Amino acid sequence: MARLTILRYPDPRLHTAARPVAVVDERIRTLAADLLETMYAESGVGLAATQVDVHERVIVMDTSDARDRPLVLVNPEIVWASDERAVAEEGCLSVPQVYDKVERHARVKVRALDRDGQPFELDAEGLSAVCVQHEMDHLRGKVFVEYLSLLKRDRIRTKMLKRTRDEQRTRA
Ligand code: NI
Repeated sequence: MARLTILRYPDPRLHTAARPVAVVDERIRTLAADLLETMYAESGVGLAATQVDVHERVIVMDTSDARDRPLVLVNPEIVWASDERAVAEEGCLSVPQVYDKVERHARVKVRALDRDGQPFELDAEGLSAVCVQHEMDHLRGKVFVEYLSLLKRDRIRTKMLKRTRDEQRTRA
């Protein structure tokens, strides 16, 4: 297993649409294991392959309190979404220290393949529903800040660019 480097907004590679996984093989299992290791190390509840510059439809999540329920979703598809919507505060490992409210479906049913390539369904509500919709957005190249106003997004963009510059200067 290995910890992977997470792309940081506004890196243009975050806007790449991921392609479906053809076969869930050892390579995909290693990717999923590395995504989980990286997610846990960064204290995130979800991570998409897009965020580590791998553009294939794989996401991992763990929304349990004990952080002992890792979920791997390969080729996830939303097969049902509630009309009811809910607003929750979101953050993202690609946009560190930025949190804002996003409105999404309150509940969704997602069909995916697990790490062995077996199909399963996830009935998601609450944090799990927020997380799976957020991570699936990554797979189509969408970052949560794109739901915010242009003004907010510009501010976040400037802040992130400045922070990355400052960090590079400190390292130099
Ligand atoms: Ni994210």
